[in-house]
Amino acid sequence: MWLDKNHPDCVYVDVRPEVNPTVVHDTRLPFPASITDRAPYDLINFDPPHMCCGPESDMATRYGHHTSEEIRQIVRLTAENAHSRIARQYGDEFQME
Ligand SMILES: C[S@@+](CC[C@H](N)C(=O)[O-])C[C@H]1O[C@@H](n2cnc3c(N)ncnc32)[C@H](O)[C@@H]1O
Repeated sequence: MWLDKNHPDCVYVDVRPEVNPTVVHDTRLPFPASITDRAPYDLINFDPPHMCCGPESDMATRYGHHTSEEIRQIVRLTAENAHSRIARQYGDEFQME
């Protein structure tokens, strides 16, 4: 994901169209067919917003601003969606960076 966002074995998902992900999607919501059609995935690497530094911070400029409550919700709902919908069962791996 970090070295080659266009790698054919990788589906890069982000809510911001400006970063040119494979699929623009809010991962708190059920995944669209453009993601589920390629499931199950052996490895899901989740690199969510990490901390609230304020709307004027360098972090917010680079990645967008999220309150601490929003970050907790993004992590919880994305993990639930990924585990229940697209991760390979019995041998899946979910990494959070
Ligand atoms: C720490 S950055 C990591 C970005 C990317 N992995 C990278 O290394 O460049 C967190 C990313 O989560 C994305 N994000 C925040 N909320 C999201 C959501 N609800 N659904 C999908 N992506 C989200 C942000 O747009 C941002 O690009």
